[in-house]
Amino acid sequence: MTGLADTIRDEEHLDDLLSRPSPELVDLMRHLDGDIIILGIAGKIGVSLGRCALNAIRQAGVHKRVYGVARFSKPALRDKIASYGIETIACDLLDRDAIAALPPVANVIFMAGRKFGTDGREDLTWVMNTVVADNVARHFPSSRIVAFSTGCVYPLVTAATGGCDEQVTPAPVGEYAQSCLGRERIFQYAALTYGTKITLFRLNYAIDLRYGVLHDIGRAILAGDEVDNSVGHFNVIWQGDANNVALRALELAASPAAIINVTGSETIAIEDAARALAKLLGKPLRFRHQRSGEAAYLSDASRMSALFGPPTVPLERLIAWQADWLRKGGASLDKPTHFQVNDGKY
Ligand SMILES: NC(=O)c1ccc[n+]([C@@H]2O[C@H](COP(=O)([O-])OP(=O)(O)OC[C@H]3O[C@@H](n4cnc5c(N)ncnc54)[C@H](OP(=O)(O)O)[C@@H]3O)[C@@H](O)[C@H]2O)c1
Repeated sequence: MTGLADTIRDEEHLDDLLSRPSPELVDLMRHLDGDIIILGIAGKIGVSLGRCALNAIRQAGVHKRVYGVARFSKPALRDKIASYGIETIACDLLDRDAIAALPPVANVIFMAGRKFGTDGREDLTWVMNTVVADNVARHFPSSRIVAFSTGCVYPLVTAATGGCDEQVTPAPVGEYAQSCLGRERIFQYAALTYGTKITLFRLNYAIDLRYGVLHDIGRAILAGDEVDNSVGHFNVIWQGDANNVALRALELAASPAAIINVTGSETIAIEDAARALAKLLGKPLRFRHQRSGEAAYLSDASRMSALFGPPTVPLERLIAWQADWLRKGGASLDKPTHFQVNDGKY
Protein backbone atom coordinates (compact mmCIF):
# COMPACT_ATOMS: atom_id res chain seq x y z
CA MET A 1 0.00 0.00 0.00
CA THR A 2 2.93 2.28 -0.62
CA GLY A 3 2.12 5.80 -1.74
CA LEU A 4 -1.42 5.76 -0.37
CA ALA A 5 -2.44 8.36 2.21
CA ASP A 6 -2.89 7.05 5.78
CA THR A 7 -5.85 9.31 6.29
CA ILE A 8 -8.16 11.40 4.12
CA ARG A 9 -8.34 14.75 5.87
CA ASP A 10 -11.49 16.33 4.54
CA GLU A 11 -13.79 16.58 1.52
CA GLU A 12 -11.30 18.67 -0.44
CA HIS A 13 -8.64 16.01 0.05
CA LEU A 14 -11.15 13.27 -0.84
CA ASP A 15 -12.29 15.09 -4.00
CA ASP A 16 -8.64 15.57 -5.03
CA LEU A 17 -7.85 11.88 -4.62
CA LEU A 18 -11.01 10.77 -6.45
CA SER A 19 -10.13 12.93 -9.45
CA ARG A 20 -6.46 12.03 -9.75
CA PRO A 21 -5.66 10.71 -13.24
CA SER A 22 -3.29 7.81 -13.75
CA PRO A 23 -0.27 8.25 -16.06
CA GLU A 24 -2.05 5.97 -18.56
CA LEU A 25 -5.11 8.24 -18.60
CA VAL A 26 -2.92 11.30 -19.11
CA ASP A 27 -1.27 9.48 -21.99
CA LEU A 28 -4.67 8.61 -23.48
CA MET A 29 -5.58 12.30 -23.58
CA ARG A 30 -2.56 12.92 -25.81
CA HIS A 31 -3.99 10.80 -28.62
CA LEU A 32 -7.76 10.69 -28.02
CA ASP A 33 -9.42 12.81 -30.69
CA GLY A 34 -12.26 15.17 -29.79
CA ASP A 35 -13.89 16.59 -26.69
CA ILE A 36 -15.65 14.77 -23.86
CA ILE A 37 -19.26 15.08 -22.70
CA ILE A 38 -20.51 13.55 -19.45
CA LEU A 39 -24.25 12.95 -19.37
CA GLY A 40 -25.44 12.75 -15.76
CA ILE A 41 -22.51 14.64 -14.26
CA ALA A 42 -24.30 15.90 -11.16
CA GLY A 43 -24.57 12.55 -9.38
CA LYS A 44 -22.40 10.65 -6.93
CA ILE A 45 -19.75 9.75 -9.49
CA GLY A 46 -19.95 12.36 -12.24
CA VAL A 47 -18.36 15.34 -10.50
CA SER A 48 -15.10 13.56 -9.67
CA LEU A 49 -15.10 11.80 -13.05
CA GLY A 50 -15.41 15.13 -14.87
CA ARG A 51 -12.63 16.63 -12.81
CA CYS A 52 -10.48 13.56 -13.40
CA ALA A 53 -10.89 14.06 -17.17
CA LEU A 54 -9.96 17.73 -16.91
CA ASN A 55 -6.92 16.99 -14.74
CA ALA A 56 -5.73 14.40 -17.26
CA ILE A 57 -6.19 16.85 -20.14
CA ARG A 58 -4.26 19.56 -18.31
CA GLN A 59 -1.44 17.21 -17.33
CA ALA A 60 -1.24 16.00 -20.94
CA GLY A 61 -0.86 19.61 -22.06
CA VAL A 62 -3.59 19.27 -24.70
CA HIS A 63 -6.71 21.29 -25.46
CA LYS A 64 -10.03 19.54 -25.02
CA ARG A 65 -13.35 20.70 -23.73
CA VAL A 66 -15.21 18.77 -21.06
CA TYR A 67 -18.96 19.27 -21.01
CA GLY A 68 -21.14 18.21 -18.10
CA VAL A 69 -24.86 17.62 -18.59
CA ALA A 70 -27.63 17.14 -16.03
CA ARG A 71 -30.85 18.85 -15.08
CA PHE A 72 -28.88 20.36 -12.16
CA SER A 73 -31.67 19.86 -9.68
CA LYS A 74 -29.17 21.19 -7.10
CA PRO A 75 -28.03 24.52 -8.63
CA ALA A 76 -25.11 24.94 -6.19
CA LEU A 77 -23.56 21.78 -7.58
CA ARG A 78 -23.64 23.27 -11.08
CA ASP A 79 -21.56 26.21 -9.84
CA LYS A 80 -19.07 23.85 -8.19
CA ILE A 81 -18.74 21.77 -11.37
CA ALA A 82 -18.31 24.92 -13.48
CA SER A 83 -15.66 26.22 -11.07
CA TYR A 84 -13.43 23.28 -12.05
CA GLY A 85 -13.54 24.36 -15.70
CA ILE A 86 -16.24 21.94 -16.88
CA GLU A 87 -18.73 23.52 -19.28
CA THR A 88 -22.15 22.78 -17.83
CA ILE A 89 -25.27 22.35 -19.94
CA ALA A 90 -28.68 22.01 -18.29
CA CYS A 91 -30.69 19.43 -20.20
CA ASP A 92 -33.44 16.98 -19.35
CA LEU A 93 -32.41 13.86 -21.24
CA LEU A 94 -36.08 12.84 -21.43
CA ASP A 95 -36.64 15.85 -23.69
CA ARG A 96 -35.64 14.93 -27.25
CA ASP A 97 -35.69 18.57 -28.40
CA ALA A 98 -33.27 19.50 -25.63
CA ILE A 99 -30.97 16.61 -26.53
CA ALA A 100 -30.97 17.76 -30.16
CA ALA A 101 -29.24 20.96 -29.00
CA LEU A 102 -26.33 19.14 -27.30
CA PRO A 103 -22.98 19.56 -29.08
CA PRO A 104 -21.96 16.58 -31.26
CA VAL A 105 -19.02 15.50 -29.10
CA ALA A 106 -16.73 12.59 -30.06
CA ASN A 107 -16.49 11.04 -26.58
CA VAL A 108 -19.54 10.42 -24.42
CA ILE A 109 -19.72 9.12 -20.87
CA PHE A 110 -23.36 8.23 -20.23
CA MET A 111 -24.19 7.93 -16.56
CA ALA A 112 -27.71 9.26 -16.11
CA GLY A 113 -30.01 6.62 -14.69
CA ARG A 114 -32.59 5.79 -12.08
CA LYS A 115 -32.49 3.11 -9.39
CA PHE A 116 -33.98 4.03 -6.05
CA GLY A 117 -37.68 4.57 -5.83
CA THR A 118 -38.21 2.06 -8.62
CA ASP A 119 -40.85 0.24 -6.56
CA GLY A 120 -44.06 2.14 -7.21
CA ARG A 121 -42.64 4.16 -10.14
CA GLU A 122 -41.48 1.33 -12.37
CA ASP A 123 -42.67 3.39 -15.36
CA LEU A 124 -40.21 6.19 -14.65
CA THR A 125 -37.32 3.78 -14.09
CA TRP A 126 -37.98 2.09 -17.42
CA VAL A 127 -38.24 5.39 -19.27
CA MET A 128 -35.05 6.77 -17.66
CA ASN A 129 -33.04 3.62 -18.24
CA THR A 130 -34.23 2.73 -21.72
CA VAL A 131 -35.88 5.64 -23.58
CA VAL A 132 -33.16 8.06 -22.47
CA ALA A 133 -30.52 5.59 -23.67
CA ASP A 134 -32.22 5.56 -27.08
CA ASN A 135 -32.44 9.37 -27.15
CA VAL A 136 -28.71 9.56 -26.43
CA ALA A 137 -27.69 6.81 -28.84
CA ARG A 138 -29.60 8.48 -31.70
CA HIS A 139 -28.04 11.88 -31.01
CA PHE A 140 -24.45 10.56 -30.87
CA PRO A 141 -24.31 7.88 -33.61
CA SER A 142 -20.73 8.68 -34.62
CA SER A 143 -19.32 9.01 -31.08
CA ARG A 144 -17.59 6.63 -28.73
CA ILE A 145 -19.91 6.00 -25.78
CA VAL A 146 -19.06 4.50 -22.41
CA ALA A 147 -22.49 3.59 -21.11
CA PHE A 148 -22.62 3.05 -17.35
CA SER A 149 -24.41 -0.15 -16.44
CA THR A 150 -24.42 -2.34 -13.37
CA GLY A 151 -23.42 -5.78 -12.13
CA CYS A 152 -27.11 -6.18 -11.24
CA VAL A 153 -27.76 -7.40 -14.80
CA TYR A 154 -26.17 -10.69 -13.73
CA PRO A 155 -27.83 -13.35 -11.63
CA LEU A 156 -27.09 -13.38 -7.92
CA VAL A 157 -24.37 -15.95 -7.19
CA THR A 158 -22.40 -17.34 -4.26
CA ALA A 159 -18.83 -16.30 -3.50
CA ALA A 160 -17.68 -19.82 -4.36
CA THR A 161 -18.39 -19.10 -8.05
CA GLY A 162 -15.74 -16.35 -8.13
CA GLY A 163 -18.39 -13.91 -9.42
CA CYS A 164 -19.87 -13.45 -12.89
CA ASP A 165 -17.51 -12.64 -15.73
CA GLU A 166 -18.60 -10.94 -18.94
CA GLN A 167 -19.45 -14.31 -20.54
CA VAL A 168 -22.25 -15.01 -18.05
CA THR A 169 -25.69 -14.55 -19.60
CA PRO A 170 -27.59 -11.71 -17.91
CA ALA A 171 -30.53 -12.79 -15.76
CA PRO A 172 -31.67 -9.59 -14.07
CA VAL A 173 -33.83 -9.88 -10.97
CA GLY A 174 -36.53 -7.23 -10.54
CA GLU A 175 -37.54 -4.28 -12.66
CA TYR A 176 -34.58 -1.99 -11.94
CA ALA A 177 -32.09 -4.62 -13.08
CA GLN A 178 -34.31 -5.58 -16.02
CA SER A 179 -34.45 -1.94 -17.13
CA CYS A 180 -30.63 -1.78 -16.92
CA LEU A 181 -30.41 -4.76 -19.26
CA GLY A 182 -32.88 -2.89 -21.50
CA ARG A 183 -30.45 0.05 -21.51
CA GLU A 184 -27.61 -2.25 -22.52
CA ARG A 185 -29.70 -3.78 -25.31
CA ILE A 186 -30.48 -0.34 -26.72
CA PHE A 187 -26.80 0.58 -26.80
CA GLN A 188 -25.97 -2.79 -28.38
CA TYR A 189 -28.58 -2.08 -31.04
CA ALA A 190 -27.00 1.33 -31.70
CA ALA A 191 -23.56 -0.27 -32.03
CA LEU A 192 -24.83 -2.74 -34.61
CA THR A 193 -27.23 -0.42 -36.44
CA TYR A 194 -25.44 2.94 -36.53
CA GLY A 195 -21.91 1.62 -36.04
CA THR A 196 -21.57 3.60 -32.80
CA LYS A 197 -18.59 2.47 -30.76
CA ILE A 198 -19.85 1.46 -27.33
CA THR A 199 -18.48 0.13 -24.05
CA LEU A 200 -20.99 -1.30 -21.57
CA PHE A 201 -19.50 -0.48 -18.18
CA ARG A 202 -20.88 -2.89 -15.58
CA LEU A 203 -19.98 -1.23 -12.29
CA ASN A 204 -20.35 -2.83 -8.88
CA TYR A 205 -20.38 -0.41 -6.00
CA ALA A 206 -18.06 2.54 -6.05
CA ILE A 207 -16.52 3.68 -2.75
CA ASP A 208 -16.10 7.42 -2.10
CA LEU A 209 -16.34 7.43 1.78
CA ARG A 210 -19.41 9.75 1.72
CA TYR A 211 -21.46 6.84 0.41
CA GLY A 212 -21.00 3.21 -0.51
CA VAL A 213 -21.27 -0.23 1.01
CA LEU A 214 -18.48 0.30 3.56
CA HIS A 215 -20.00 3.66 4.55
CA ASP A 216 -23.40 2.03 5.08
CA ILE A 217 -22.02 -0.83 7.17
CA GLY A 218 -19.82 1.49 9.24
CA ARG A 219 -22.64 3.95 9.83
CA ALA A 220 -24.92 1.20 11.11
CA ILE A 221 -22.19 0.07 13.53
CA LEU A 222 -21.60 3.63 14.79
CA ALA A 223 -25.34 4.12 15.32
CA GLY A 224 -25.56 0.84 17.29
CA ASP A 225 -27.87 -0.63 14.62
CA GLU A 226 -27.76 -4.19 13.36
CA VAL A 227 -25.68 -4.72 10.25
CA ASP A 228 -27.86 -6.22 7.54
CA ASN A 229 -26.24 -9.47 6.45
CA SER A 230 -29.01 -10.55 4.07
CA VAL A 231 -26.41 -10.93 1.33
CA GLY A 232 -23.22 -12.82 2.05
CA HIS A 233 -20.46 -11.06 0.17
CA PHE A 234 -19.70 -8.01 -1.95
CA ASN A 235 -17.03 -6.44 -4.06
CA VAL A 236 -16.30 -2.76 -4.35
CA ILE A 237 -13.89 -0.42 -6.10
CA TRP A 238 -12.33 2.89 -5.12
CA GLN A 239 -14.23 5.51 -7.10
CA GLY A 240 -10.96 7.09 -8.20
CA ASP A 241 -10.07 3.82 -9.93
CA ALA A 242 -13.57 3.53 -11.43
CA ASN A 243 -13.23 7.08 -12.82
CA ASN A 244 -9.92 6.26 -14.47
CA VAL A 245 -11.23 3.03 -15.95
CA ALA A 246 -14.41 4.75 -17.22
CA LEU A 247 -12.41 7.32 -19.16
CA ARG A 248 -9.90 4.77 -20.43
CA ALA A 249 -12.81 2.56 -21.50
CA LEU A 250 -13.44 5.11 -24.29
CA GLU A 251 -10.57 3.36 -26.06
CA LEU A 252 -12.26 0.01 -25.64
CA ALA A 253 -15.48 1.19 -27.29
CA ALA A 254 -16.38 -1.00 -30.25
CA SER A 255 -19.10 -2.20 -32.54
CA PRO A 256 -20.48 -4.71 -31.53
CA ALA A 257 -20.43 -3.19 -28.06
CA ALA A 258 -17.60 -4.15 -25.71
CA ILE A 259 -18.50 -5.23 -22.17
CA ILE A 260 -16.39 -4.77 -19.07
CA ASN A 261 -17.00 -5.53 -15.42
CA VAL A 262 -15.66 -2.83 -13.15
CA THR A 263 -15.07 -3.67 -9.51
CA GLY A 264 -12.33 -4.65 -7.08
CA SER A 265 -10.36 -7.88 -7.37
CA GLU A 266 -11.24 -8.89 -3.81
CA THR A 267 -14.48 -10.44 -2.59
CA ILE A 268 -15.24 -10.02 1.10
CA ALA A 269 -17.94 -11.36 3.38
CA ILE A 270 -20.25 -8.66 4.76
CA GLU A 271 -19.58 -10.11 8.22
CA ASP A 272 -15.79 -9.87 7.82
CA ALA A 273 -15.98 -6.29 6.58
CA ALA A 274 -18.29 -5.43 9.48
CA ARG A 275 -15.92 -7.05 12.01
CA ALA A 276 -12.97 -5.08 10.63
CA LEU A 277 -14.93 -1.81 10.70
CA ALA A 278 -16.28 -2.46 14.22
CA LYS A 279 -12.76 -3.14 15.49
CA LEU A 280 -11.40 0.06 13.97
CA LEU A 281 -14.37 2.05 15.26
CA GLY A 282 -14.13 0.45 18.71
CA LYS A 283 -17.82 -0.42 18.68
CA PRO A 284 -19.82 -3.59 19.37
CA LEU A 285 -21.34 -5.42 16.44
CA ARG A 286 -24.74 -7.00 15.88
CA PHE A 287 -26.01 -8.71 12.75
CA ARG A 288 -29.62 -8.76 11.56
CA HIS A 289 -29.61 -12.49 10.80
CA GLN A 290 -27.98 -15.39 12.59
CA ARG A 291 -26.46 -16.51 9.33
CA SER A 292 -25.75 -14.31 6.38
CA GLY A 293 -27.36 -14.98 3.02
CA GLU A 294 -25.51 -16.87 0.34
CA ALA A 295 -26.38 -15.17 -2.93
CA ALA A 296 -25.05 -11.75 -3.86
CA TYR A 297 -24.17 -9.52 -6.79
CA LEU A 298 -20.56 -10.48 -7.43
CA SER A 299 -18.55 -9.67 -10.52
CA ASP A 300 -15.28 -11.07 -11.77
CA ALA A 301 -13.19 -8.08 -12.86
CA SER A 302 -10.28 -10.08 -14.32
CA ARG A 303 -10.79 -8.51 -17.74
CA MET A 304 -10.63 -5.00 -16.30
CA SER A 305 -7.40 -5.81 -14.43
CA ALA A 306 -5.86 -7.41 -17.51
CA LEU A 307 -6.70 -4.40 -19.70
CA PHE A 308 -6.16 -1.52 -17.30
CA GLY A 309 -4.23 -2.94 -14.37
CA PRO A 310 -5.56 -3.91 -10.94
CA PRO A 311 -7.23 -1.31 -8.69
CA THR A 312 -4.73 0.95 -6.94
CA VAL A 313 -6.48 0.93 -3.55
CA PRO A 314 -6.82 -2.46 -1.82
CA LEU A 315 -9.88 -3.29 0.24
CA GLU A 316 -7.92 -3.20 3.51
CA ARG A 317 -7.01 0.45 2.85
CA LEU A 318 -10.59 1.31 1.85
CA ILE A 319 -11.84 -0.16 5.14
CA ALA A 320 -9.22 1.80 7.12
CA TRP A 321 -10.06 5.05 5.28
CA GLN A 322 -13.78 4.46 5.80
CA ALA A 323 -13.48 3.82 9.54
CA ASP A 324 -11.26 6.87 9.97
CA TRP A 325 -13.71 9.02 7.96
CA LEU A 326 -16.70 7.94 10.02
CA ARG A 327 -14.85 8.22 13.34
CA LYS A 328 -14.01 11.85 12.71
CA GLY A 329 -17.55 12.70 11.54
CA GLY A 330 -16.75 13.02 7.82
CA ALA A 331 -19.54 14.14 5.50
CA SER A 332 -22.19 11.72 4.28
CA LEU A 333 -24.40 12.04 1.21
CA ASP A 334 -27.22 10.21 3.03
CA LYS A 335 -27.74 8.04 -0.04
CA PRO A 336 -27.85 4.41 1.09
CA THR A 337 -26.65 1.85 -1.46
CA HIS A 338 -29.26 -0.76 -0.44
CA PHE A 339 -26.46 -3.30 -0.80
CA GLN A 340 -28.54 -5.77 1.23
CA VAL A 341 -31.20 -6.10 -1.48
CA ASN A 342 -31.30 -9.61 -2.91
CA ASP A 343 -34.80 -9.67 -4.39
CA GLY A 344 -34.43 -6.88 -6.97
CA LYS A 345 -36.78 -4.51 -5.11
CA TYR A 346 -35.37 -0.98 -4.87
N1 LIG B 1 -22.61 4.62 -7.65
C1 LIG B 1 -22.43 3.31 -7.79
O1 LIG B 1 -21.80 2.64 -6.97
C2 LIG B 1 -23.00 2.62 -9.01
C3 LIG B 1 -22.98 1.22 -9.05
C4 LIG B 1 -23.45 0.58 -10.19
C5 LIG B 1 -23.94 1.33 -11.24
N2 LIG B 1 -23.96 2.69 -11.16
C6 LIG B 1 -24.50 3.44 -12.29
O2 LIG B 1 -23.61 4.47 -12.66
C7 LIG B 1 -24.31 5.64 -13.08
C8 LIG B 1 -23.83 6.83 -12.27
O3 LIG B 1 -23.98 6.54 -10.90
P1 LIG B 1 -24.26 7.65 -9.83
O4 LIG B 1 -24.23 6.94 -8.53
O5 LIG B 1 -23.40 8.84 -10.05
O6 LIG B 1 -25.77 8.05 -10.20
P2 LIG B 1 -26.66 9.17 -9.57
O7 LIG B 1 -26.04 9.71 -8.32
O8 LIG B 1 -28.05 8.66 -9.50
O9 LIG B 1 -26.57 10.34 -10.66
C9 LIG B 1 -27.42 10.36 -11.77
C10 LIG B 1 -27.16 11.62 -12.58
O10 LIG B 1 -28.09 11.70 -13.66
C11 LIG B 1 -28.70 12.98 -13.68
N3 LIG B 1 -30.03 12.82 -14.22
C12 LIG B 1 -31.05 12.09 -13.71
N4 LIG B 1 -32.12 12.20 -14.48
C13 LIG B 1 -31.78 13.02 -15.51
C14 LIG B 1 -32.46 13.54 -16.64
N5 LIG B 1 -33.76 13.24 -16.88
N6 LIG B 1 -31.80 14.35 -17.47
C15 LIG B 1 -30.51 14.69 -17.25
N7 LIG B 1 -29.81 14.23 -16.20
C16 LIG B 1 -30.46 13.41 -15.34
C17 LIG B 1 -28.67 13.46 -12.24
O11 LIG B 1 -28.61 14.87 -12.07
P3 LIG B 1 -29.94 15.79 -12.00
O12 LIG B 1 -30.87 15.17 -11.01
O13 LIG B 1 -29.43 17.15 -11.56
O14 LIG B 1 -30.46 15.82 -13.39
C18 LIG B 1 -27.30 12.92 -11.84
O15 LIG B 1 -26.33 13.80 -12.36
C19 LIG B 1 -25.80 5.33 -12.89
O16 LIG B 1 -26.34 4.93 -14.13
C20 LIG B 1 -25.80 4.15 -11.94
O17 LIG B 1 -26.91 3.30 -12.14
C21 LIG B 1 -23.51 3.35 -10.07
